[in-house]
Amino acid sequence: MHSIQNLIRCNILHLKPYSSARSEFSGTASVFLDANENGYDLFGDGLNRYPDPLQLAVKQRIAKLKGVPIESIFLGNGSDEAIDLLFRIFCEPGVDEAITCPPTYGMYRVQADIHGTPIRQVLLNEDFQLRPQAVLEAVTYNTKLLFLCSPNNPTGNILDPASVEFLLRNFLGIVVVDEAYIDFAEGPNSWAQRLAEFPNLAVLQTLSKAWALAGARLGMAFASPEIIHYMNAVKYPYNVGLPTQQAVLPALEMGLDSTVATIIAERKRLETKLAEMDFVERIYPSDANFLLVKIKDSALIFNYLKQNGVVVRDRSREPLCEGCLRITAGTKTENDRLLELLAAFNPSLIQSFNPS
Ligand SMILES: Cc1ncc(COP(=O)(O)O)c(C=O)c1O
Repeated sequence: MHSIQNLIRCNILHLKPYSSARSEFSGTASVFLDANENGYDLFGDGLNRYPDPLQLAVKQRIAKLKGVPIESIFLGNGSDEAIDLLFRIFCEPGVDEAITCPPTYGMYRVQADIHGTPIRQVLLNEDFQLRPQAVLEAVTYNTKLLFLCSPNNPTGNILDPASVEFLLRNFLGIVVVDEAYIDFAEGPNSWAQRLAEFPNLAVLQTLSKAWALAGARLGMAFASPEIIHYMNAVKYPYNVGLPTQQAVLPALEMGLDSTVATIIAERKRLETKLAEMDFVERIYPSDANFLLVKIKDSALIFNYLKQNGVVVRDRSREPLCEGCLRITAGTKTENDRLLELLAAFNPSLIQSFNPS
C-alpha cells in the first residue's frame, strides 16, 4: 500500500499547526496569564478558561473502554468533524477522489461536495452488501478515501466483514469504517480492534446514538498514530468545549446504559408489529436502532404520520430504497404512538383529505 505520507496533501504534510497557549504549557502552574482569557470565573464553572485542546481526561476513559491507545484516538465535534478533517487531510480539491457505496449516510457526499472532491458511487447490492470488486474497479490513481458504513445508515445492516477486509487489503488509500451504530449490533467486533493490522484504516464512532449524548456533540476517530497526528494538526485548537468534555465523563465512567437493550427489544417489537400491517411490503434486517421499511404508498403514510405529529425519515429517493421509510426505534411511548397511528391508517380517508 501507499505509505500514509504519500496520501496526505502536500500543504498538510508541511503544515506548521497553530500552537495554542494551553498546548504549549504542560507543567503545573497556578497563575495563567498566557491565553488572554478573563481570569474571573464569573459563573463558578470554569468556563472562563479554554478547555484541554487534546481532551486527555476523556481520551483516557475512551482508551480504557475501547482498548485503543490514546495516540490512536481523535475526538471532535461529532463524528461529522472527523469526516470533514479526513477530506481536508487527504483530498486535494478538484483532484483527489473519494468512493461511497450508496444507499449510505448522506454526509460523505455533502462533505465531498464542500471540499470539491469528485466522488464515485458504487451501489451496494440488493442485500445492501458491498460489491468489493466493483469498488476496486472504480478506484483511480487519485482515489484517496473509501467510505464504508457498518451498520449502514439507512439500511441498518452490518457490512460483511470479509468484504471490508478485502478492501482494506486491496485499496491503497484510506478506508473509513463508520461505526456510528456499532453499539446496537449484536454481531462482529469493532474494526477499531484491528488498527494494528491496517495502517490505512480509520474507524468512526460517536456518542450521539447508543450513548444518548447527541446534544453534547462528541465523535471519535480511531486510526494509526500518524493519521491521528494529522487530524489533531488540522482541527480547530479547542474543537471540543469544556461543557462537552465534562458532560461525557460520567457517562463514559458508567458505561453503556440498559436503554440500549431496551431499544433493541423495541426495534424487534416494531418489526413484529409492522410486519402484520398490510401496507408494509418489506422490513430489512437491522443491527442498528432503526428499521428501513418498504411501504406501499410510502409518501401517503409519511405525510399521514407527519400530519399527526410523528416524523420518520423518507428515504424513498435513495438508490435501492424506493418506497422506503427509515423509522427510529424510539422510547416505548413513542413507538406505541407510531403503531397506534399506523393501525388506524385508512387510505380512503387520507386520500380524500390529502389528494397529493
Ligand atoms: C452513519 C453516521 N455517521 C455519522 C453520523 C454523525 O454523527 P455525529 O452526531 O457524531 O456527528 C451519523 C448521524 O446520523 C450517522 O448516521
